[in-house]
Amino acid sequence: MEIDPVRIRQVVANLLANALQHTPAGGSIRIACELNLEGTRPRGVSVSVADSGTGIAPEDLPHVFACFYKSRDSRGSGLGLAIARQLVVAHGGQIGARSEVGKGTTIRLTLPLEHRDRPNRPDGDHRAGQGLSRLH
Ligand SMILES: Nc1ncnc2c1ncn2[C@@H]1O[C@H](COP(=O)(O)OP(=O)(O)OP(=O)(O)O)[C@@H](O)[C@H]1O
Ligand SMILES: [Mg+2]
Repeated sequence: MEIDPVRIRQVVANLLANALQHTPAGGSIRIACELNLEGTRPRGVSVSVADSGTGIAPEDLPHVFACFYKSRDSRGSGLGLAIARQLVVAHGGQIGARSEVGKGTTIRLTLPLEHRDRPNRPDGDHRAGQGLSRLH
């Protein structure tokens, strides 16, 4: 599997920061990683960050990956999830959110094992953090 570790770490850090922000003391945050199979063949890897926090209202949920979309109480820029989605898509992957108000939120991303159309990533260039820098 070939990924840009700096960028994927940034994605997971963004998801964790959101979960910590929206989960009161005593709640839980779970990170899970699993291998996706097609039959017996490995196809990709999923990472999910699930919190037991405030949740996201159904009318907001479709918009949370849009640039600058944020709740009024957010002190951030509303870019965390938008950047996360761009980075995951640049890896050929997908990201989605499920949430229930008062119960919590799960953000799950899937990365394929093989991705041919890597932007800015000539073959043999394995320098961490270099390949996808134009997305910033
Ligand atoms: N785990 C979560 N639980 C509840 N709401 C969330 C969660 N993650 C994201 N949100 C909602 O989605 C909005 C957008 O998230 P995003 O990470 O893009 O921006 P932000 O956290 O407000 O700012 P930034 O990440 O740029 O510092 C948040 O303002 C918040 O309303
Ligand atoms: Mg954020």
